[in-house]
Amino acid sequence: MSADLKMLESIQNTQSISREELGAILQTQDSFLIQELHKKAQQTATQIYGNKIYIRGLIEFTNYCKNNCYYCGIRCANAKADRYRLTTEQILSCCKTGWNLGFRTFVLQGGEDPYYTDVKICQIVQEIKSKYPDCAVTLSIGEKSEESYQAYFNAGADRYLLRHETADEEHYRKLHPQQMSLNNRKNCLKVLKKIGYQTGCGFMVGSPGQTVDTLYQDLLFIKELKPEMVGIGPFIPHKDTPFADQPAGTLDLTLRLLSIIRLIHPHVLLPATTALGTIDPKGREKGILAGGNVVMPNLSPVNVRDKYKLYDNKICTGDEAAECKACMAARMKSIGYEVVTDRGDQFCLMIRNQLTLNVGRNQ
Ligand code: 5AD
Ligand code: FES
Repeated sequence: MSADLKMLESIQNTQSISREELGAILQTQDSFLIQELHKKAQQTATQIYGNKIYIRGLIEFTNYCKNNCYYCGIRCANAKADRYRLTTEQILSCCKTGWNLGFRTFVLQGGEDPYYTDVKICQIVQEIKSKYPDCAVTLSIGEKSEESYQAYFNAGADRYLLRHETADEEHYRKLHPQQMSLNNRKNCLKVLKKIGYQTGCGFMVGSPGQTVDTLYQDLLFIKELKPEMVGIGPFIPHKDTPFADQPAGTLDLTLRLLSIIRLIHPHVLLPATTALGTIDPKGREKGILAGGNVVMPNLSPVNVRDKYKLYDNKICTGDEAAECKACMAARMKSIGYEVVTDRGDQFCLMIRNQLTLNVGRNQ
């Protein structure tokens, strides 16, 4: 076996990667090695999750944001963004459509919008959980206090997505204004885990200033945090942001990182993201074949879809939920996978829940 293939085996066996190995994989031009990397990652995912792909119904319920991240199209300084908020009724209507289409996870995503107080968020979560008790609710609404996170959890929220964006202090400063801090972000993620959320971190691939070293920090952070989910996708410039003229992250680099994350953190729920589908027409399929096991079709009302623009040229903005779901199911089928009607918990949690149920039944 060549030294390169031995390196892949060692990453897979030890579930860890050195700085040198990461550099070698991210910089190699050897397409055979990269094929092997993707194959190993795909095998790892199918050993745990089979050919099942979990779907999450994404509800983008507000594009107001008090933050001003340099990369993001809904940053508060972007006066050109056409702002909107969904009412509780509109959100519930998205869930109803989604439930009928087979979605059993709803992801409520929005900018950091103080209009949605903790009381409002808790009400929305409670209503969804009481109408759809068999569904998981995921929140993706940014940095909050421990008390707020605890209140949402008590209201029934199951999961929380908060990408750390970069685990490197200096790089974080290049992407965010002074008011934001990596320390706070990391602390939020630790608190979320402590409370008991299935927690997701993640980062953009190819964000301005990113290097092999900053990516290595990201991987170390994932190993330390042990999140149930990791969201990564290419950085894509938005025309009305300070990063308008920066180059986008590449498909190739994103796929390599998806595979590496699968190998070093095998049970993770790993989406092939919309951003990946935006930079390549078959990006999401390729993401699954590189080790992903989740897709997140959009359930937001069509009349607000093109307003939730974090980056330019976002796909699926004109498609009804049903079209998106059918399109996604067909795309997954075309590569031998099956989209399932399931909450899609992380494997270890799924087993724990089943054991608890069985113990309950036997008593
Ligand atoms: N390109 C790609 N991804 C982006 N995000 C924000 N702006 C962009 C962009 N221009 C990602 C961030 C954020 C997630 C919701 O979307 O990582 O956490
Ligand atoms: Fe949205 Fe294809 S997934 S239209």
